[in-house]
Parts: sequence; C-alpha cells; structure tokens
Amino acid sequence: CGIVGYIGKRDSQFILLEGLKKLEYRGYDSAGVAVHTAEGLHISKAKGRVGELESRLADQPLIGCAGIGHTRWATHGKPSDVNSHPHTDNGLKISVVHNGIIENHLQLKEELEQLGHHFLSETDSEVIGHMIAHYYKDSLVQAVQQAVARIKGAYAIVVLSEHEPDKLIAVRLASPLIIGVGEGENFIGSDIPAILEHTRNVHVLGDGEMAVITQDSVELMTLEGNFIAKQLLYIDWDLMRAEKSGYAHFMLKEIEEQPRAYRDTLGGRIDEQDKSIVFPDMLMGLEQIRDMEQIHLVGCGTAYHAALVGKTIIEQLTRIPVEVDVASEYRYRQPIITKKTLVIAVSQSGETADTLAAITQAKLSGARVLGITNVVGSSVSREADFQLMTWAGPEIAVASTKAYTSQLIALYLLALYIGQSKGSIEQSLRAELIDKLNKLPEQVQSLLANTSQIQRIAEQIAAFKDLYFMGRGLDYMVAMEASLKLKEISYIHSEAYPAGEMKHGSLALIEEGTPIIALATQEHVLEKTISNIREVKARGAYVIGIAFEGNLELAKAADEVIYVPRTDALLAPALSVIPLQLLAYYTALARGNDVDKPRNLAKSVTVE
Ligand code: G6P
Repeated sequence: CGIVGYIGKRDSQFILLEGLKKLEYRGYDSAGVAVHTAEGLHISKAKGRVGELESRLADQPLIGCAGIGHTRWATHGKPSDVNSHPHTDNGLKISVVHNGIIENHLQLKEELEQLGHHFLSETDSEVIGHMIAHYYKDSLVQAVQQAVARIKGAYAIVVLSEHEPDKLIAVRLASPLIIGVGEGENFIGSDIPAILEHTRNVHVLGDGEMAVITQDSVELMTLEGNFIAKQLLYIDWDLMRAEKSGYAHFMLKEIEEQPRAYRDTLGGRIDEQDKSIVFPDMLMGLEQIRDMEQIHLVGCGTAYHAALVGKTIIEQLTRIPVEVDVASEYRYRQPIITKKTLVIAVSQSGETADTLAAITQAKLSGARVLGITNVVGSSVSREADFQLMTWAGPEIAVASTKAYTSQLIALYLLALYIGQSKGSIEQSLRAELIDKLNKLPEQVQSLLANTSQIQRIAEQIAAFKDLYFMGRGLDYMVAMEASLKLKEISYIHSEAYPAGEMKHGSLALIEEGTPIIALATQEHVLEKTISNIREVKARGAYVIGIAFEGNLELAKAADEVIYVPRTDALLAPALSVIPLQLLAYYTALARGNDVDKPRNLAKSVTVE
C-alpha cells in the first residue's frame, strides 16, 4: 500500500492526489484521503484507482492545509469504499492510514467493542483509530504511543486528528515511511516518488521510531518518547526517471533504460587496468570472504529469479556452495545457517516483508547478511551487514525489468569479486568476463532497436490461453523469469520447465499449435536442448527459439528464432531476457491489459 501526508500552507488535496498517483504502483484496489477542513475532519474514499477518488474530490472538494492519503492493496477485507483508508474512530475525530498487518486486531476489536466502539469495515487497520480515540485525553502524541504499545504486527501509520490539527504523527515498525522536509511545509510518503516533486531532503524513519510533523518542524523520537537527532538524507534521484517522460507505459520506459542501468550498476566497480572488481560501497573484507563456507540467496518474485541465476554464477566462479530460497519459505524450513554462511538478500524495493523476515532469521543464526537492493536507505539495506546497490533508478511498473537485470549485473560483479578474493578464478577468465560485461549495455541497445519480430510474435501468442517456456541451466532460470513476466501482465497461463524434464510429465500438455519458447543460449547443452525441441514439435508445438546470433542449428529445429548478440554463456541471461520482457509487454498490450498495474498485484509487498 502507499501512504502520503502533507502539512503546510497549500491546499492539501491536490498534493495528496499527486502523491497517491505516484504511489499507485504499491497498490491500487482503493484510495482515500482525510483532510482537516474549516468544518473539521473529512474523509473521502473510493474503491478502484486513484482516478476514482480524484473524480469524487472534484465533485466534493476537501479544502484544508493538512491531510493524509492512502492507496490500498487489499489484505484484510475485499476492496470496497468502506474498507479503504483513511479509517477513523466513531467520533470522526481521528483519521488513520496504515500499511502492514495488525496481528492482534481481533482481540483489540473485541475489547473496544465491549467499550462501545462500533466497527464499520472488515480491516485490521480500523482498530488503530479507535485505540487512539480510546486513549486520547489531552495529548495526541501520548495517545498514539499508548495505542501503538498495544498493537502487535508490522506497520507504518500516519495520524491526523481534529483534536490537534496542526500536526501529523507518523509511526513506523517494519513498514517504510519517509519524511520530506520542505520550507513552511512538510511531507510524508511510504516511498520516495510520492514526495520527490516537492523536496529532496528526507528523513527515513527507522523501526520503532515516530515523527511529529507540523508545517514548520519535524521532531523524531522513539516510541517511548526519547528524542532522536538524525541527519537529513539528500535524494539525488533524477525526477525524470520517476516519470513516464513520453512513454506509453513505465514498463516500456524501464525496459529501454536497461543499457543505462547496466552502465550505472557496473560504474566505478571495475578497475580497467587491473581487470579486477572494486567495491568502494561494499564493506565485506577479504578475511570474511575467505572464511565463507556457504552462501544462501533469498528473494521473492523476480528477485528470486535473479538469485537463481546468481547461484550458478557464484558456484561456477567461486566454488562456494550456494542455496537459493524463496524468502517466504526460508525461515520455516529450518535452514542450516552457521557463522560462516553469507546470506544474500536480493530485493528491488528493499522493503519486502518476506525478505526482511528471512534476514532476521539469518541474523539470529549468526550469519552475515549482504543486501542487494535498488533503494538507498531501504529496510533491507539498513538491516544487512553489507550492501551492494543496483543503480537501476526508480522502478515503477509492477512487472520488474531493469531491476532484475541490474541484480544480475550486481551478482556477476559479486561472483567475480569473491572469485578474485579467493583466487578461484583465473586472471584471464576474469579479464575476459569483465570485457564481456562492459559490452552488454551496447548489446542490449541493439536488441532494443529492433522489436518488430517480437511485436509480431506477441500478436500471435496473445490469442492463446497457455504457453510454455523451456531451457537448460541458466536458460531455465531465465525461462522462469520470462514466464512470470508474461503471466503477471498478460494473464496468459504459462509455465517454465527444464527442457529435459518435459518428457517426464509436461509433454502431456502439448497440443497442436501450443506455443513453446525454447531458450538455447547454453551451447554446451545445445544438442540436448535441440532434442527436446524435436520432442515437443513432434507433439504439435509451435517453437520459438532464443539463441545467440549465428546459431543455425536452432533455426533448423525451431519454427522461428529470436537472436541475441553473442556473449559468454554465463552472461547470456542479461541478454536473452530482454526480448522476453518485450514479448510480455507487447502481448499484454495486444490483450488490452493495464501493463503497469496488473490485476491483484502490487509492486512492493510489505506483508508476509
Ligand atoms: C512483488 C512484485 C514483484 C517483485 C517482488 C519482490 O511481488 O510484484 O515484481 O519481484 O514483490 O520485490 P522486491 O522489491 O523485494 O524485489
């Protein structure tokens, strides 16, 4: 979900609406605002996109200089007007927006009902306003502190009350909140894009911290009320990068930004003379690396798929055993973690609750944690012992593209770095891989320059209900990501299989004309993959191959081939995924879907 807040001299409704539009990628089931108007606190909310709320506010504006807003991704209670935030108490004196989950809400609700409180929604969030109302005597800060002390769970909360309308109170426990500091006005956002237009000076609230914000001041304190001094953080994101700047969709813009994202992620991390990796921004020392006995990679969704590629790369270049887990599974399978384990958490946003929970588990077991994230100051980057940034820039489309490939680049650099530190990789191979890494941005550019073949294939597959991807080794890892990309935005059912595994069951799914995308960049297993292609073709499949330029054998075996520029087999994922991202994009477009905001999903999922 997304949160915004404003207090200052301007009409808050427009600032809140603009902020919510920027945050819509965090959830778009419903949206709402609460504004302190001349007639007191008023709330307007609507099921659906922020646009719905905007029309409602156009009919019935809420004029006032302090307000809070929310865009929701439903957890407790279906998307509806009444389940939307802000929530309030029965006296309509206190309004609250909330991200996260209140684990003990049923118990608190029961308690409050016995005291005469009535609940309107099915949400867990509604108890917060009632709790604050229950504790309020003459200090909103105290009432919030008392209420929060009763709440179990993970949350970010912002409160606006008619009792003390000159302030907003923000509280954070395990769900991000950022305070934007302006002149004579201050802002709150659950993510940087919400406030970037107004200020670049921010405080990132830490866990267990709260902020009391008036138009002229920001006071930071612990939940117990002890004041905290914090340096302002300056956000140097280019505003343009968080805007669509002429593109039809963020996703297309982000796909096209990949050459730049590759360059930025590589930037300053390669010593060209020495052909070695340098990590000025990662503090893991040589000794710690030499000491390392195993690596665990964790992540969710696309980040998990990057981690799968990471496993192969790291094992091949460092000979350190690597395991990969979906973050939500990690801590429940009792993984064997020792002090000599490095746990690498991969997360674009750095805020995914499942990934954070995996980090907690790792730290409890004494492991060191390295965070690979795209957001400076994010929870993962703060929780981790070491961090490695991907410089993809803000990624807004729910379907991740440039963040995934930047994660691949970061993992290549990391594997080379560990390999060079351990001496497990020959100098000549290292130099060769570094040269090939440097060529990738240009090669991606060439792939982006010619999309007509992909657009044509997209038109064809848009009519199908099922589609399969297959490949061996790293091709299979990319197949999984390509399949996720396609299903999340086109809603076509798709699966990825190891090519050699089809014959053990999935062949039964193949019918006349079923499209299969066969990745075949891993040429050491080319013959085997080609045999698998023959097997599916013999059952009627229409096979679209993905191969390095010059691979004519595949052209003979498949119905058609999408070629990508030649690189090292280990680096192939950074190229072969590009046409498949475009394929997902154009297929979703052909089906008339909302590419940037696929149904039921959200960009950043801050609940477990
Ligand atoms: C959500 C998004 C996915 C993303 C995953 C992990 O489910 O819809 O696109 O891959 O979260 O996000 P993270 O920010 O941790 O990489």
